Amino acid sequence: PSEARQLAATAQSLEQLRGILENYDGCGLKFRATQLVFADGNPEAKIMLIGEAPGAEEDRQGKPFVGRSGQLLDRMLGAIGLDRNSVYIVNTVPWRPPGNRTPTPEEMELCLPFLNRQVELVAPRLVMTLGGPAMQTVFKTTNGIIKMRGKWQDVTIGSHQVPALPTLHPAYLLRNPPAKQQAWKDLLSFKARIGALGLG
Ligand code: URA
Repeated sequence: PSEARQLAATAQSLEQLRGILENYDGCGLKFRATQLVFADGNPEAKIMLIGEAPGAEEDRQGKPFVGRSGQLLDRMLGAIGLDRNSVYIVNTVPWRPPGNRTPTPEEMELCLPFLNRQVELVAPRLVMTLGGPAMQTVFKTTNGIIKMRGKWQDVTIGSHQVPALPTLHPAYLLRNPPAKQQAWKDLLSFKARIGALGLG
């Protein structure tokens, strides 16, 4: 991770960071993935969403949240007046874990310096994390998502301080539709904060 931190720190732009990641061989996930899944959305956006890891469709297209979860995510964003041009979307790891397993804590730790730098360069005013692993990474906790979701906290990501809201992962909502009620509360809370900051 210290090699990753030094490398990430040299990136002065998102394009440089992407190039550094393309050439970074320190994370084993890379060798079983088709390609880097760096980000989607608007790098100028003040709102950042952090997911878990690319799945099969993301691995194919090289973009986060373009499969079934992504379609639900688009509807969730649409329900509060957002779209891909009003947010910037990343994952805790930029390569697909084999078989769509959850990235290991070691893999997330290895990639964290790059995520940190990505957040520093985008400098979002609000962050929403999707699902347990992203929440645990960003909130530096081992608490579960069911306990943490819906509660705002100021977090420090790299050197960037930002209010962050954890919500449930769209893939979880697809498996467990009644949980959409909770996610809806979180989305309304997120929308209220967007309004309060004049970001809408
Ligand atoms: N799930 C995630 O967490 N991220 C993606 O990019 C796709 C599905």
